[in-house]
Amino acid sequence: MILNRSDFRTLSDISSTSPEASSQQPPRHVAVIMDGNGRWARARGVPIAQGHYEGGEALQRCVSAALEHGVEYLTLYAFSLENWRRSGEEIEELTSLLQFYLRHRFDALDREGVRLRIIGEPERFGEELCAELRQAEEKTRNNKRLTLFLALSYGARAEIVGAARDLVSKVQQGALRLEDINEDVFSSALQTGDAPDPDIIVRTSGESRLSNFLLWQSAYAELIFLDVLWPDFSEADFAAVLKDYMQRHRRFGGRPA
Ligand code: IPE
Ligand code: IPE
Ligand code: MG
Repeated sequence: MILNRSDFRTLSDISSTSPEASSQQPPRHVAVIMDGNGRWARARGVPIAQGHYEGGEALQRCVSAALEHGVEYLTLYAFSLENWRRSGEEIEELTSLLQFYLRHRFDALDREGVRLRIIGEPERFGEELCAELRQAEEKTRNNKRLTLFLALSYGARAEIVGAARDLVSKVQQGALRLEDINEDVFSSALQTGDAPDPDIIVRTSGESRLSNFLLWQSAYAELIFLDVLWPDFSEADFAAVLKDYMQRHRRFGGRPA
């Protein structure tokens, strides 16, 4: 089911009257597939690069909203492994945009207590950008308010294969026993490490698929598909997502209490 903004009005009405609405704990980890920059640009007859630029502005609104709502982990899907299929021109524009945000906008996030962690294969963006990303991670490593996982050149299947390889190599070196590999050990070997699994995965732009995002970690995530193009995403949309989540009933396979 894809929600649009008028549905949210109904949902907030329900949540304010539902006696069970308060039983849900607020989400600790929100993950977002930031989709729709291209369609936003095409609808306005402007270059795709402008859609991506406005997408960067939306990203900042999303981080502000996460901070405001006390979310501890925010994972943002910025570029997939499959996105390397796009034109050289679009990739160059995205790379410069990333560099621009890192150089000119990142300090503000640092001051707010955001810790940056990159997941994916950022080295594919070249040595210079990768070094700047690693510096930003290092600079913010002691920030505690919000951990921001930025997924760059990320693919969940590749992440899972990487974790399997790491574990096999530890077993081969005698640092880990085969019988000690369990779901928790496997989760810790993923790039999101010891972060809790996402409680919510949001995708904008009206598409209802995961596109190779957090396939292991999404096992019990609540999926929310928004009929909003990413550059139009607002802090109110973030609040509406949380409201929708708060009135869902997560059962994890059990019976409702
Ligand atoms: C998401 O927007 C940004 C990236 C994948 C880099 P898109 O560029 O996929 O936008 P649409 O799907 O073409 O509208
Ligand atoms: C998923 O969006 C990746 C990001 C938002 C970064 P895509 O636009 O690449 O996904 P598909 O191709 O529509 O599945
Ligand atoms: Mg897309």
